[in-house]
Amino acid sequence: MTSLSAVIPVAGLGTRSLPASKSVPKEMLPVFDRPIIQYIVEEAVTSGAKNIVLVTSRGKSIIEDHFDIAPDLEATLKRANKNDLYKLVHDLSRMTAVQTVRQKEALGLGHAVWMAKNLIQTSPFGVMLGDDLVEAKVPGLQQLLEKSKSLKKDVSEIGVVMLTEVPDSEVSKYGICELDPKEPGRILRCIEKPKPSDTKSRSAILGRYLLPRDIFEILEKQKPGNLGEIQLTDALNVLAEQGRLYGCYLQGLRFDAGDRLGFLRANLHYYLKSPLKSDVQNLLKEFMA
Ligand code: UTP
Repeated sequence: MTSLSAVIPVAGLGTRSLPASKSVPKEMLPVFDRPIIQYIVEEAVTSGAKNIVLVTSRGKSIIEDHFDIAPDLEATLKRANKNDLYKLVHDLSRMTAVQTVRQKEALGLGHAVWMAKNLIQTSPFGVMLGDDLVEAKVPGLQQLLEKSKSLKKDVSEIGVVMLTEVPDSEVSKYGICELDPKEPGRILRCIEKPKPSDTKSRSAILGRYLLPRDIFEILEKQKPGNLGEIQLTDALNVLAEQGRLYGCYLQGLRFDAGDRLGFLRANLHYYLKSPLKSDVQNLLKEFMA
């Protein structure tokens, strides 16, 4: 492996966030002081990713703009001696280079990842969902890298997915993994959005993956499902059958910002971590009364 690459698919329709996401991509909705996507790109960068590929779609170009240089804004802030704001805007646009590729139709997460194939040369590479926030001492993607290295396998040949335990009521919202009782961490199979009675496992996949580069060939061979979608879970199952898929339980917090309550939880969390903490606590008391 040379330097790490990360693919961030942001081409979904975001129906759970409508109407807010009709003309503003859900990834650009703010959580505290920055759009959701900025947290994810920051996590990629602090995990060591040098090459970041956004899989975008029509109407999502403001996501690229967010990481681009804004010369007028920078010049105005500088002239006005607004040095803190200038630094914030300056550093954001120099944080990393972002490449993009378009997914012309929302044909599923597997298809979105496959779209990045020509821009990814490293194995393994990261996949980070554009609406899943991970807040942890060790950045989420880095946790996967560390797990991968600890397995004493060829890291370029295996996949590692981030897992968390979910209650019965949440099982049908996730890809659920069944783990090998004989080999710690090894995943035997993944089931996409099962009923709680379909599996004993409660280990759900979160939006972080470390995948071997040959996942692109696996995705290429896959047949689309009922809705014409290519599911990433099906490709993960090929890795699992070949004994090349492992799980890593998240050490930290995770927020599904593509879901209304998850979005509120994320906002509350980051507001309560900010200098506005006591004001927010007072506001909450006021509302509770
Ligand atoms: P979601 O399952 O959250 O789907 O996708 P969605 O369309 O974004 O949102 P809802 O469920 O309709 O509200 C998980 C991630 O995969 C991306 C999304 O942008 C999101 O980051 N995705 C999904 C694609 O890039 N392309 C697709 O075809 C599907």
